[in-house]
Amino acid sequence: MLSLKFFMIFVLLLSLSSSMITFTGAAEPTYVNHACSDNKFTRNSTYQSNMNTLLSSFPSNASRSNGFYKTTTGHDPNRVYGLFQCRGDVTTTTCQDCVDFASTDTIQRCPDQKGNIIWYDECLLHYSDSSIIYTSGLNNGPLMANGTEVTIEPSRFHQLMLEIMREAATQAANDPKRFATRKGNSTTSQPLYGLVQCTQDLSNTDCSRCLEESIANLRAGRMGGRSLIPNCYSRYELYLFYNENMTASLPPPPPSSLTMPKGKSKVSSTIIIAIVAVITVSGVLSVAGYCFLSRRSRKKYNTIQEEIAGIGITTVESLQFDFVTIQAATNRFSTYNKLGAGGFGEVYKGVLPNGQEIAVKRLSRRSRQGVEEFKNEVELVAKLQHRNLVRLLGFCLEGEEKILVYEFVPNKSLDNFLFDPEKQGQLDWSRRYKIIGGIARGILYLHEDSRFRIIHRDLKASNVLLDGNMNPKISDFGMARIFGVDQIQAKTKRIVGTYGYMSPEYAMRGQFSVKSDIYSFGVLVLEIITGKKINNFCQTDGVGDLLSYAWKHWRDGTPMQLLDSNLTDSYSRNEVMRCIHMGLLCVQEDPTARPTMATVVLMLNSYSVTLPLPKQPHALFHGNRTELNMQITSNYMQWSVDDASITEVYPR
Ligand SMILES: *[C@@H]1O[C@H](CO)[C@@H](O)[C@H](O)[C@H]1NC(C)=O
Ligand SMILES: *[C@@H]1O[C@H](CO)[C@@H](O)[C@H](O)[C@H]1NC(C)=O
Ligand SMILES: *[C@@H]1O[C@H](CO)[C@@H](O)[C@H](O)[C@H]1NC(C)=O
Ligand SMILES: *[C@@H]1O[C@H](CO)[C@@H](O)[C@H](O)[C@H]1NC(C)=O
Ligand SMILES: *[C@@H]1O[C@H](CO)[C@@H](O)[C@H](O)[C@H]1NC(C)=O
Repeated sequence: MLSLKFFMIFVLLLSLSSSMITFTGAAEPTYVNHACSDNKFTRNSTYQSNMNTLLSSFPSNASRSNGFYKTTTGHDPNRVYGLFQCRGDVTTTTCQDCVDFASTDTIQRCPDQKGNIIWYDECLLHYSDSSIIYTSGLNNGPLMANGTEVTIEPSRFHQLMLEIMREAATQAANDPKRFATRKGNSTTSQPLYGLVQCTQDLSNTDCSRCLEESIANLRAGRMGGRSLIPNCYSRYELYLFYNENMTASLPPPPPSSLTMPKGKSKVSSTIIIAIVAVITVSGVLSVAGYCFLSRRSRKKYNTIQEEIAGIGITTVESLQFDFVTIQAATNRFSTYNKLGAGGFGEVYKGVLPNGQEIAVKRLSRRSRQGVEEFKNEVELVAKLQHRNLVRLLGFCLEGEEKILVYEFVPNKSLDNFLFDPEKQGQLDWSRRYKIIGGIARGILYLHEDSRFRIIHRDLKASNVLLDGNMNPKISDFGMARIFGVDQIQAKTKRIVGTYGYMSPEYAMRGQFSVKSDIYSFGVLVLEIITGKKINNFCQTDGVGDLLSYAWKHWRDGTPMQLLDSNLTDSYSRNEVMRCIHMGLLCVQEDPTARPTMATVVLMLNSYSVTLPLPKQPHALFHGNRTELNMQITSNYMQWSVDDASITEVYPR
């Protein structure tokens, strides 16, 4: 009995591998990314059955379509909307294979969600419980970037890339297949290849807008990248990744099975036989097959994903520490282990049983967040990994205790060096310049490169830690999320931030955006250049605050006098000037006039980018403290100061 089973499996495997051989060229598509929707269906519901009907009809529709198909099944409220779009340069056979694979693969990846968008190199499949339309400005899809940075003229590289991609976008918007590729020169010895694709249901205006959004999201300074948004995507590489033969003479009549030459249709009929064989075999071997396939695809997923955003698999369980472990590691939160205190709680140094050094942040009990919500946020923040961010290793949640566990960073925070007369000298200009660049890259990652847009909201010198090599690492990112400060939304009633670093629109109206972080970054840059504190500024020549002081010297044509007097030895005048200029652009009153972090990084990397002239910064919040208190109390109900650096304001 048993040996008969083995024999059968052997025969099946044999036939599977032989059909694989006849099957070369019709391989499984290359998985890129996916995004399950949040809504779940109930098992055996009408919705599920409509969804299955839709997905199972796709493969047969793919054989008849020109690479695109959009449909719905069922009736409201259980209607399912769906579409697939094959890339413009793939053959009908490849398209069909891809859609075929996708319609089962998606169920593995989003087993009980009502919708998903799944991208492969060859096709994308999208289904949802709501109508699939394009709305400009609301598209935040996954971004992917090649891990290798461009070293030769990165900013010109970026400009060339944008040119090539925009030309392709214009062509695609006017092409019935909504697809175009472009080859052009790059700053490296290889040419640059670009590809853009909209789903074919988009009008040419929408396609053009969608691609504009997608291209704007492409990461600067990398050797390749993609920006996937639901209705269109763009991709560039330094190698040929599409089939030039299918795109060279545009627009070729789309190949359809009726007009195909005889020889080719014979080939496709053998392939169909092969498909049937494989389907039969895999039907019998379904369990083993699915395990194998899904493991294989998941492996691919991880390698790409880690490369892109530094996201590994982390589960809540793997992040959880016992309170006993933390207590032992910190000597029962001994004062000797205390590293400092901030607005969110106290920080202790600890050593785990395996010898790993950790920093333990014991959160104060003001958090109003529920346990599950807290765990979800920690899990999210733990996935953010970048060399300029302090790594969150885990958390502990027991009774009233909420504790975060971070990697230990030995050199304390930037303010320890910057504002200490004895240590200031250790930060020469080239170190300071590297620190500015590192902070900028860390924030860029939070704002744009991770899958979740994170606004720090409390960027300041004491939240920038320095590792053993004086590389900056931003800490306390995601605190607003973890601590549940009204979650991330565009306007908050509860303002959390630090005196001096808060942008005017945030401090006065509670409005925050990536541009409020840019403002804080600008303040930080000016502090790093001058070695003077924003909150404790004393200057005798009639200027009361750091920003006015910086502005005065800029306006009077004496910006170099801003430079910390400890730094007279060696510095690059060009770099210093650029940093002052950029700092002033970041602290402008009008948020829209401030640059984005991507632009800041570009400005730091290249002298060929021309910077606009800055406008005078808004100095209301940088006067002396009494004046500030008066301003605030007249505008707000309550004004409280937790400690010297944290302020909380409660607007009406
Ligand atoms: C769904 O239906 C299947 C087959 O009809 C049945 O075996 C299964 O128990 C049902 N599941 C639920 C949750 O009702
Ligand atoms: C799509 O497939 C379904 C099921 O196979 C079929 O009923 C429908 O007519 C097809 N639509 C087109 C346009 O081919
Ligand atoms: C690319 O560079 C080569 C050599 O510099 C030049 O001849 C060619 O015209 C350039 N191509 C484009 C599209 O600019
Ligand atoms: C990154 O780009 C280089 C140069 O084009 C290429 O050789 C390499 O394969 C790319 N890496 C990935 C992961 O795509
Ligand atoms: C493109 O066409 C050339 C010449 O016909 C052929 O050698 C090459 O293999 C084709 N490339 C692809 C990707 O089909």
